[in-house]
Order: sequence, then structure tokens, then C-alpha cells
Amino acid sequence: MQPTGTQGVIRAAQPPDLPQVMEVERLCFSRQWNENQFRPAFQDLFLVYEEDGKILGFIIVCSCEVARRAVIMRVAVHPQAQGQGIASRLMAQALAILRDRKIRTVELDVEIPKIDAKRLYEKFGFKTLKIVHEDADYENEAFYLMQLRFA
Ligand SMILES: CC(C)(COP(=O)(O)OP(=O)(O)OC[C@H]1O[C@@H](n2cnc3c(N)ncnc32)[C@H](O)[C@@H]1OP(=O)(O)O)[C@@H](O)C(=O)NCCC(=O)NCCS
Repeated sequence: MQPTGTQGVIRAAQPPDLPQVMEVERLCFSRQWNENQFRPAFQDLFLVYEEDGKILGFIIVCSCEVARRAVIMRVAVHPQAQGQGIASRLMAQALAILRDRKIRTVELDVEIPKIDAKRLYEKFGFKTLKIVHEDADYENEAFYLMQLRFA
């Protein structure tokens, strides 16, 4: 049998996916988005990884074609399916779509303890621009501000 992460599909998220997406969210983050935060994402770039009818991961990107900039808002993979390439597949597909949209730079924040997430982004060419030590939304937690510039 193939390992999880190779046999599923990546597709655009649809509103009926929300309960499963929010379950992955609940398992992955201590500060979780609520339904109202997820809903606008359906209008932008919101992909899910689905295997056997089950959503095991998702990525949400906010992109502005006028400014040619994008921000990765959320990437998460169900804890039982992590380490099998699902986030890498989601990231690769999202970045390909952003290239098609003629986006030039992609940014994101990573909380300092999240070494696995930081490695994921570095694998795709993201560089740390700076370490930010305070932010009103994050109650003074430090995070890396990372950026990828398309050639
Ligand atoms: C970060 C996260 C999305 C990675 O998902 P994943 O499907 O396990 O990632 P992948 O299997 O595609 O691995 C991608 C890369 O991440 C890194 N990585 C993954 N798990 C890791 C771990 N436990 N330790 C260190 N690096 C790790 C590796 O560089 C890996 O690439 P490689 O296998 O080619 O070396 C997942 O761990 C997650 O959902 N975490 C909780 C939510 C979160 O922190 N999201 C990011 C917010 S900034």
C-alpha cells in the first residue's frame, strides 16, 4: 500500500469542507480560526488535500494580483498524516497557482518554536527577513517573517 500523502488529491476547498477543515485546525493550532475567519478564504486561494473522502490538510493564501504579493495565512496537516509530504504537495500547488497569477513575492509568519514549519518553507526557497518580537495579534510572541521572491 502507498503511504498517506501520495494517493490523495489536492483541490479547491468548498464551503461543505469546513467542518473537516476546522477539525484539522483544532488538532493543529492552539489559537484557532473560527468559521468567520475561514469563510472569506473560499474567495481566494484555499486548497485541501483529500484522501478517501477525508480532508487531511489545507493551505490558505491571500493574494493580491494588483500588488503582485501574497501571504500564506495557514498551512496544516492532520497530526496522524504529518511527515508524509502532504504539506509539501499543498505548498507546491499553491506556489504554482501564485506564479500563474503573476505574483512576485510571497510572505508568511512562523512562530519561533515551529521548526518543522520553518523547514517546510525553507525547502521551497523562503528566506527569513527578520525576527519580529511583538505583535498585537500574537501577544508578544516572537516569529520569523519569511519571504519568497519568484525569479
Ligand atoms: C508544518 C506542517 C504543516 C508540515 O506538514 P507535513 O505534511 O508534515 O510536511 P511534509 O511532510 O510535507 O514535510 C515538509 C518538510 O517539513 C519539514 N518537516 C516536517 N516534519 C518535520 C519535523 N517533525 N521536524 C523537522 N522538520 C520537519 C521537513 O523539511 C520536510 O521536508 P523533507 O521531508 O523533504 O525534509 C505540519 O507539521 C502541521 O500541520 N503543523 C501544525 C500546524 C503548523 O504549525 N502550521 C504552520 C504554521 S506556520
